[in-house]
Order: sequence, then structure tokens, then C-alpha cells
Amino acid sequence: MKIAVLAGGISTERDVSLVTGREVYKALKENGHKAILLDAYLGCETGPDEVFDADIDWASKVAPISEAAPDIEEVKRLRGADSKEFFGPNVIKICQAADIVFMALHGDCGENGKVQAAFDLMGIKYTGTDSLSSALAMDKSLSKLMFKMYGVSTPDSYMLKSIDDDYRPQYPCVVKICNGGSSVGVYIANNESEYKSAVREAFGYESRVMVEEYIKGREFTCCVIEGRALPIVEIEPKSGFYDYKNKYQEGSTIETCPANIDEATTARIQAEAVKAYNALGIKTYARMDFLMSDTNEVYCLEANTLPGMTPTSLIPQEAAAAGVGYGQLCEWIIKISLQKWD
Ligand SMILES: Nc1ncnc2c1ncn2[C@@H]1O[C@H](COP(=O)(O)OP(=O)(O)O)[C@@H](O)[C@H]1O
Ligand SMILES: [Mg+2]
Repeated sequence: MKIAVLAGGISTERDVSLVTGREVYKALKENGHKAILLDAYLGCETGPDEVFDADIDWASKVAPISEAAPDIEEVKRLRGADSKEFFGPNVIKICQAADIVFMALHGDCGENGKVQAAFDLMGIKYTGTDSLSSALAMDKSLSKLMFKMYGVSTPDSYMLKSIDDDYRPQYPCVVKICNGGSSVGVYIANNESEYKSAVREAFGYESRVMVEEYIKGREFTCCVIEGRALPIVEIEPKSGFYDYKNKYQEGSTIETCPANIDEATTARIQAEAVKAYNALGIKTYARMDFLMSDTNEVYCLEANTLPGMTPTSLIPQEAAAAGVGYGQLCEWIIKISLQKWD
């Protein structure tokens, strides 16, 4: 098949997305597809007629993920004057020429349903869930509303009305932006001064900010593919919480899959993952994040509709524990995604 792996974009997760894209691209190429790695924002000089047969080493162009999120203004400067439109040169034409677009974008443009909606209108097939469920999953405040409606347990939260909201949280608490990802814009505040600076920083990212009850305990994540849960991963950062650095710098977090928990707890988390997936109307696949309190209460934090597929990412680990290798996982995602158009 002709497959365009679409990555990059202009979210804070741009660098992570490019690494996801590189890995997927390499796997699809190995599987015998005519695959290319396409930077959604910067585009491609080669046009749709030649690009799938061009001799380009796409993988070597991708830099490793640095310790901090990238400077998006710098990326915008790279593209220059025509940077009003999200899609870079040739991107739409190449996607239209592909049999399917493998979505390796993370964060706002891409994971929030906008690209999916545009592709639906343009007759472009893509992997992953549809635009509405993407949008619901991207916005944590909307996800939590749906979770409450469907009986999925989630930490209590309060939406701040503005940066000057006089809400008085209990400490510790979590301040997070609604449309973030990769823990960018997530802060744990232990006292008033930490809380105030967290609120200030969060509003620097976006105007929708929530304060969430802090759950002390263990962290898990569980992927659902085609409505079925995969083995669970336990996540234990060696220091601090599961922030950007601990997510992407190899060796900074201990990830155990299958998680070392009893069968009943495994079944409980997996059932919650499926419930959360259904609550948001997700199709194909997604990865749900969980915390379990010291009293064994399970809370769903969020659903990730285009979860990372970098070498240190979680879905590939879960798939491997279920006996599915990386290349097979990519094929599986493509197969179930194409079924959306059957
Ligand atoms: N309510 C909470 N209590 C304790 N830790 C939390 C809470 N919410 C988030 N965290 C920590 O912050 C990380 C990122 O939060 P999450 O809501 O999953 O946002 P993101 O979309 O950035 O991954 C979690 O993996 C967890 O380590
Ligand atoms: Mg998360």
C-alpha cells in the first residue's frame, strides 16, 4: 500500500510525534509498503506523483527527543511567510494520493479531531478514531463529563474561570490545562505559592485550566484495541511524577508490563479502560491513563487517541506482552482503521 505517515505538526508534542512517525515509517517500509514520513506542517518538496517512489531516507531526518518540549515559534519561522495554513506544501495532495494516512500526530492539531474532520471532507482515509471522539478525548474537561455520565471513576475537578479565580484548593492538588499532552502544562502544587505559579504558567498555555484532586498511589495505563483491553503497564518514575522528561528520556521511568497486580485488579482496570473508551465513542484504538489510590480506588485520568509509538512508548510494550510485535501492531491499526470505510 501507499502509506503517508503523518507527523510533526505544531503542538508541544511535535518532537515526540516525529519519533513516533519515524518508527512507524520504518516498520511499514520493512513490511513492504511504499511508506513515506510526512511533516504535516513543514510539508514536502516532492509532489504526490513521485514521492512514494522517491529514494529519500526519511528516517534520518528526525532528531532525538530533547529533555524539554520544542519551541514552536522557531518551527513556524522555518516555514516562513505562508505559515497561516496548518498543512505544509504538498501535504494534502500526498495524503489524497495515499491509500491511507497513518496518523502519527500528537497533541492539538491531529489528536483533537481537526485533521480527521478535514480528511473526512477531503476523502482521505486515516488511522485511528474519528473527529468527534478525538475532540472529546483531547479536552480533559469534556472527557471527564462523559466519564461521569458513563460511570467511569475520575478525580474530582474544578474548572478555573480565569487566572484570577479565587478557588481555594486542598493541597496537594494538580493544576492542568484541558488540551495538553505529554504532561506539558501539568503541575502538582503542594502549597499556595506553588499553586499560584502553576495557575499562572498553565494559563500561559491556554485559557481552559482545571484543578484536580491529587491521587496518591500507583500509576497504570491500558490500551484498548477494537474494544478489547491489552495487558496493563505500571509506570513508576524514578523521581517526581510522570512528566515530559520522565516520559521520553530512556531509563528515567520503570515500566512493568504486564503490571504486577492481581487478576481482579487487572480485570477492574481493563474494564474501566473499555468503559472510558466507549464513553468517548472511540473507534479503533486508544490508551487510557489511570491512578490507583492507596485504598485501591481506580481513577481514569484521560484517554489518548493517538498514543505515542516511540521506542520507549507504552502501546508497543502492551502489544508485545500480548504477543504482537511493533510491525504487526502497525498492520493491525491499519486493518481496523480501514474497516471504518467498509
Ligand atoms: N489527579 C492526579 N493526581 C496525581 N497525579 C496526577 C494527577 N493527574 C495527573 N497526574 C500526573 O501527571 C501525569 C500527566 O497527567 P495526564 O492527565 O495524564 O495528562 P497528559 O495528557 O499530559 O498525559 C500523569 O501521568 C500523572 O503522573
Ligand atoms: Mg496522560
